[in-house]
Amino acid sequence: MSIPDSEFHSLANASDLEEGKGRPVELNHHRIALIRHDGKVYAIEDRCPHADASLAFGPVENGCIACPWHFAEFRLETGEVLSGPATCGIRTYAVRESKGQIEINLDHNADGSLHKTEG
Ligand code: FES
Repeated sequence: MSIPDSEFHSLANASDLEEGKGRPVELNHHRIALIRHDGKVYAIEDRCPHADASLAFGPVENGCIACPWHFAEFRLETGEVLSGPATCGIRTYAVRESKGQIEINLDHNADGSLHKTEG
């Protein structure tokens, strides 16, 4: 990923994010769920496409998170939907840990590609 340092924004203290637990945060009108799973931090859109539930408090297992309302499953790395009732995936964000902070870039996916513009 070659995103300049200046394009990352500090979002939380790294020590505040416990293994296996999500945390909802908001930045510039983006609802984001931060999740630490197997030691790695993920940032995903905190809005289930089925009925708008917050995904931050869903159970995390095997690289996936389940929606706490009706249990649609999403892959943390890609946001891909794995099981319904949601019929589409969610956005991911480029995220990193640096100097004790969790930092995010709102314009890029976890794989470093640019988000597609909506419409
Ligand atoms: S709101 Fe997420 S599966 Fe229904």
